[in-house]
Amino acid sequence: MRIFKFTFLLILFVALICSFAFAMKHTPEDSGKALFSDPKFAGGQKACNECHPNGKGLENAANKKEFNIMGKKQKGLEEAVNFCIVNANKGKAIDVKSEQMKDMVAYIKSLMGKMMEKKTGGYY
Ligand code: HEC
Repeated sequence: MRIFKFTFLLILFVALICSFAFAMKHTPEDSGKALFSDPKFAGGQKACNECHPNGKGLENAANKKEFNIMGKKQKGLEEAVNFCIVNANKGKAIDVKSEQMKDMVAYIKSLMGKMMEKKTGGYY
């Protein structure tokens, strides 16, 4: 009988570890969202979230090919993000191929779905 008790505890233990590992796993959107509200992101002094609360105004950004921020043109979402980092957050532009840029882009892309939800009440 002891072996059953032991096996049961072992299974419980493994299940617990697995669920922790799952809960700890951050999606790129989550990481991007954290960067978005971090005033120190990219060495800046302001969080993106201060001007774009909850990503407001960026819902369509993932669909755009050209941007116009503060009278300047940017080609592509990464360039637009870096433009705001430098000119709005007063930070340093990040590598367009970096993990942070990928996470930020994933977060901005996730905003697109949020807009659809708002418009259609979740049915789309
Ligand atoms: C000081 C205010 C300010 C801060 C801080 C700021 N932005 Fe912006 N951002 C703007 C303004 C103004 C525009 C141009 C007008 C607009 O489209 O809302 C803009 C536009 C954008 C656009 C293009 C939106 C579109 O669809 O044309 C993106 C993407 C963007 N910002 C991302 C960011 C990210 C990422 C950060 C943080 C690194 C950030 N912004 C921080 C003010 C700010």
